[in-house]
Amino acid sequence: MNHLLSIDDLSPAAISELLDLGDGFVEVLERDVPKVPTLRGRTVCLLFYENSTRTRLSFDRAAKALSADVVSFAPGGSSVSKGESLKDTALTLKAMGPDVMIVRHGATGAPWRVAEWTGLPVINAGDGAHEHPTQALLDALTLRQHFGTVAGLRVAIVGDIRHSRVARSTSSALLALGATVTLVAPRTLLPPDLTGWNVDTADALDDVLEELDVVYLLRIQQERGGGDDFPSIAEYVGRFGLTRDRAARLPERAVVLHPGPMNRGVEIDPAVADGPRALVTQQVSNGIAVRMAVLFRLLAKESQS
Ligand code: NCD
Repeated sequence: MNHLLSIDDLSPAAISELLDLGDGFVEVLERDVPKVPTLRGRTVCLLFYENSTRTRLSFDRAAKALSADVVSFAPGGSSVSKGESLKDTALTLKAMGPDVMIVRHGATGAPWRVAEWTGLPVINAGDGAHEHPTQALLDALTLRQHFGTVAGLRVAIVGDIRHSRVARSTSSALLALGATVTLVAPRTLLPPDLTGWNVDTADALDDVLEELDVVYLLRIQQERGGGDDFPSIAEYVGRFGLTRDRAARLPERAVVLHPGPMNRGVEIDPAVADGPRALVTQQVSNGIAVRMAVLFRLLAKESQS
């Protein structure tokens, strides 16, 4: 593995292997001293052009738990305000001597360009509405831990699919591992062309609720125009919100996932977000472990069998 740009670059076996490695790192993170020397002397560069809480902090934590050093860039306070381009910024950061670049950017394809320009291994930490492969891995790990397997799980991804990089990457990973996926959204929040997605669709949560193992909720991506595509929040909650009532009608074993950030009272009722079905904080912890797995795979080649 030279990069992790798209989840579709990984075979089902390669995804499973990364999840196995992730399980091992979950164990490392539970130790008294949650740190291993594996990447001592290596430097990880975080190149984040879009806001992030979970992804950025968990990559930082993952790198440090592997004993790597971290160089971190954010556009606020940088020379981006003086007109510096992505290419010049990437080449400047390359000159700091990192071994890997982790890129988040609002433009589809930006991590591929950074890979070309720098010649370094690149991890896509979210490019526009396109891909977010490490989110897909942490979601798959969370479901595999909880259910023992992803195969056969009936998953609904609910909300602003059209503007979501998470929906594309996570559905692809879960399908690769044998789940079935239904996208639940207003027509206007579905991608115009679903060729190649291999999913079902539904236009109300009530239509699928009673047959689900997993409800995966997404925020409306206001910054990408998602808020303009339906009449009102009240109408949205009425058809697509995971209210307390709806959560009570889920099968006993069903769980609720959300990549964060949550908009409580819109896609998820606060009581459901804090309730026993929600695996949202496990997703965050698993995010550290799978990102350790990806960094290990990319950088610790000589120690692999
Ligand atoms: C998501 C993202 O940035 O793509 N969050 C995340 O990485 N955990 C989802 C979102 O912003 O809604």
